[in-house]
Amino acid sequence: MEVAASAGGAGGAKTPKDVIAKHCNACHGTGLLGAPKIGDKAAWKERADHQGGLDGILAKAITGVNAMPPKGTCADCSDDDLKAAIKEMSGL
Ligand code: HEC
Repeated sequence: MEVAASAGGAGGAKTPKDVIAKHCNACHGTGLLGAPKIGDKAAWKERADHQGGLDGILAKAITGVNAMPPKGTCADCSDDDLKAAIKEMSGL
């Protein structure tokens, strides 16, 4: 899924790309600790299929699971921010 280029920047809503670059990429960029990799749609889909879809894996991302930290370390991310980042990483 395409994401509009970072519009406002300062102060406003976070863009998925910002969230990923700042918080998720550290693990999901390389698959560190067994994290599903960015762009590996099959890996994300398999997880989503087992957790009731995007909202299911979103719920896990919020609470954390195993080596996945709660909110993926983005403490000030809203659920929507996280969901957008997950969509961008997974292509789901
Ligand atoms: C410290 C490393 C780390 C960071 C940072 C991190 N993740 Fe993860 N993430 C993981 C690992 C490891 C897993 C696999 C957990 C497992 O199933 O054992 C995972 C799994 C997930 C899953 C799938 C959960 C499921 O139900 O299978 C989602 C969604 C996710 N991460 C989203 C994010 C988002 C969004 C961010 C950034 C805001 C993020 N992660 C940042 C390590 C990380």
